[in-house]
Amino acid sequence: MQQSKRFVLAIAMLGGVAFSATAIAAEGMFSKGTGNKANGENIFKNGKGNVPACASCHGEDGTGNDMLGTPLIAGQFFTFLFKQLEDYASDKRIDTTMNVMNDNAKGLTRQDRIDVATYLASLRPEFNGSDLDALKESGTPVGLPYKGRAIAEYGSPVRDDGYPKDLGSKGAGVPACKSCHGYAGRGAPPMYPKIGLQRYTYLVNQLKKWRDGSRANDPMGQMRAVARKLSDEDIHNVAAYLTNASPYTLGNFRQPYE
Ligand code: HEC
Ligand code: HEC
Repeated sequence: MQQSKRFVLAIAMLGGVAFSATAIAAEGMFSKGTGNKANGENIFKNGKGNVPACASCHGEDGTGNDMLGTPLIAGQFFTFLFKQLEDYASDKRIDTTMNVMNDNAKGLTRQDRIDVATYLASLRPEFNGSDLDALKESGTPVGLPYKGRAIAEYGSPVRDDGYPKDLGSKGAGVPACKSCHGYAGRGAPPMYPKIGLQRYTYLVNQLKKWRDGSRANDPMGQMRAVARKLSDEDIHNVAAYLTNASPYTLGNFRQPYE
């Protein structure tokens, strides 16, 4: 190989390495947050003013509760948590389940919302998702994880049952959840939340809310466009897969977030 060509190649390779290092550093910045963790922890455990302790609904470890329909919020990305709290505070997102999150977010200052999101983003809970057998026993319709995995990884073309719905200009099929949310729903900050290991009940509720438009705080309508094509069965299947999907399984080509 010519000297100059080799040089150009080396520079190109170095550039690539530098670029990915910067990208990873930026993701770290988005996923962590720089608020006051101690204040955030105090709000999470004890509440503030009229705002009850977040732990009372989201659990001591912040991993949510299927009976209450609350999500796992521990270990979610800072940018996403903060955006949701801002959206509740400004009524861009309405909590139609219990109508409490709008009041909770409004009862905190902007700085409190930054602090509690920073605290939550710093947690690394030991949690492997909802217990699907227990949910089935309690009468909750639970889907089939292997079918959900196919949708999450590959998406779905229109099937014999007419789903995913062909909505014309938006394209007929369902895109792979992975294309935005990453392998096993591991997330891609700043915009795409972790949905792997999220609570089953919460996943099902949110997908139905995106589908009927009662949740509409997604940038560019991305989630509404996806969910409008899904049948109830698709939703149950994909939620059944995601709730127990771990980024620590074979097939993840990148290091899970620290
Ligand atoms: C009375 C119960 C209750 C309390 C107390 C509560 N939450 Fe929630 N939270 C919920 C419910 C229910 C939802 C789902 C609402 C919906 O569907 O929009 C939710 C959703 C959220 C979300 C959205 C998560 C996501 O993945 O989109 C965040 C963030 C959140 N809560 C943070 C907090 C924080 C921080 C506190 C304490 C200041 C708190 N919550 C206190 C019940 C509660
Ligand atoms: C084109 C990109 C895109 C695709 C494809 C996509 N999503 Fe999303 N999804 C988003 C964005 C953006 C958000 C965050 C919206 C917000 O800011 O509230 C989101 C949010 C969500 C949430 C709410 C998470 C929470 O904690 O509140 C769920 C659940 C979800 N997506 C499930 C799915 C599933 C299941 C699929 C595949 C069937 C999928 N998504 C495909 C872009 C996408």
